[in-house]
Amino acid sequence: MKKYKTTVAFVLNDKLVEININEASIFTPTTTVLNYLRNNPFHRGVKEGCAEGDCGACTVVVAEINNENKITYKAIDSCLLFLPMLHGKQLITVEHLSRIIDNKIILHPVQQSMIDMYGSQCGYCTPGFVMSLFALYKNYNKPSKEVILDALTGNLCRCTGYQPIIEAAEAACIHNGKDHFTETEESIAALLLQIKQSTKTLSLITKKQKYFRPTKIKKARLLKSEYPNALLLGGATDIALKVTKKHELLPEIIDLSGIDKLKYYEDRPHTINIGAGLSLENLKANTEKTLPALHSMLSVFGSKQIRSLATLGGNIGSASPIGDTLPVLMAYNASVVLESPESKRIINTNDFIKGYHQTVMRQDEIITGIIIPKPKEGSIVKSYKISKRKDLDISTISACFALQLNNENLVQSIAIVYGGVAATTKHAIEAETYIIGKKWSQEVVEKAAKIIYNEFTPLSDARAGEEMRRIGARNLFLKFYLEVKNL
Ligand SMILES: Cc1cc2nc3c(=O)[nH]c(=O)nc-3n(C[C@H](O)[C@H](O)[C@H](O)COP(=O)(O)OP(=O)(O)OC[C@H]3O[C@@H](n4cnc5c(N)ncnc54)[C@H](O)[C@@H]3O)c2cc1C
Ligand code: FES
Ligand code: FES
Repeated sequence: MKKYKTTVAFVLNDKLVEININEASIFTPTTTVLNYLRNNPFHRGVKEGCAEGDCGACTVVVAEINNENKITYKAIDSCLLFLPMLHGKQLITVEHLSRIIDNKIILHPVQQSMIDMYGSQCGYCTPGFVMSLFALYKNYNKPSKEVILDALTGNLCRCTGYQPIIEAAEAACIHNGKDHFTETEESIAALLLQIKQSTKTLSLITKKQKYFRPTKIKKARLLKSEYPNALLLGGATDIALKVTKKHELLPEIIDLSGIDKLKYYEDRPHTINIGAGLSLENLKANTEKTLPALHSMLSVFGSKQIRSLATLGGNIGSASPIGDTLPVLMAYNASVVLESPESKRIINTNDFIKGYHQTVMRQDEIITGIIIPKPKEGSIVKSYKISKRKDLDISTISACFALQLNNENLVQSIAIVYGGVAATTKHAIEAETYIIGKKWSQEVVEKAAKIIYNEFTPLSDARAGEEMRRIGARNLFLKFYLEVKNL
């Protein structure tokens, strides 16, 4: 069996592709899948609109094998995926959806439905929409309107309007779960498994770049201590923009996306333990009942294409003051697990961020997991996000509040945490101190809201001015009070 060490291997539609990324190659370790496809004359259905994950014109479907060696399908933005991240996966492009039988083109049901429902005009966005619809088709039979809208959030259309496309989704996704992909799933799964089993660490070395893709945590830890300046890569939804927008050369990368052991979700008696490499889409699917405040934040996080790539470790690792999971994790009093070859540290999220995009992580450390204590019985935790658009938008302000009242309606504990009002995600400590031990009443909450208004000195930027952020932070807390009152 061939051992893959320096060759990226994946299945492009139904054919095995092996690419040696070296000096002689036209591709570098950070060539995006979009650029790889656009270089191929037979795969130019995929389009570039924004090259930053916002428009969905570049949507393709990536299929991979799960723990039971079954194929799963997800729509992703190919402008955000580096070529080596495809290793051991199937890349499905719009060209492969139709078939030719007896000299006739037979369209896939989602393509036929787009025609029947008049879902396309200029056609620029159409291949991207079709691929999102295809992923929806493979994952749902008779999806609800909510599921359809969620599947299409990451695709923009400037001329058709969305109603015909929603109707195309409704009409196409009533099926028996089978299409021509079903016929080849077993053989593709076997091929993907073969690639997986014959790969340890991919090492792609060129004069300018070193790209490592280990499959084991231990190897990742060793690589990080050997290459302390290497950039850790989770889902690349932040990092890819360095390449596509800032045209930076990334000299050393350790890609963690091939490590299955970082993708766990464990519901333990007192905690929920989450692997740093778990995708946010997977996390969203798991947390509806267990951690509703996290689930609700993830429901307005990016788009399905973004969440299918992005990881929780990446959202924490970027330490952005507008990273949406941080206020929630801090309000839940979660901890981050940091590992190096020599040590394992567990740091509370409230102590993890030390400045603007800065954390207490040492250069030889990797975030491997997140531990969230299960909320106490009777505690109320809610999250909020203010952004210019409801969907696919970065927060102007995000917030999470966790409240525990005693039998006499006195505040036993409270966490009031905001993103977007300071250089880091922060607790409103003065407001928390004021409110603790007091009666949970409108008068007390209004006083606390005034304290919140004055507690931060937010910046004005393209998203909002300072005053709007102060008012927004104050009003979100008042909203929380009204919602709790009406529970
Ligand atoms: C179109 C679009 C919409 C977006 N919408 C949102 C949104 O609504 N809310 C939001 O918060 N963010 C949003 N983002 C930003 C981004 O998707 C998130 O920050 C995401 O969680 C990053 O995760 P990742 O795995 O892709 O990280 P990567 O891009 O791989 O990495 C991000 C940072 O984390 C570090 N890192 C990654 N994994 C680890 C690890 N295991 N240990 C230590 N460090 C690590 C990397 O070195 C890097 O510094 C959006 C981005 C795009 C492009
Ligand atoms: S080109 Fe716009 S999302 Fe990729
Ligand atoms: S059909 Fe023209 S952008 Fe959608």
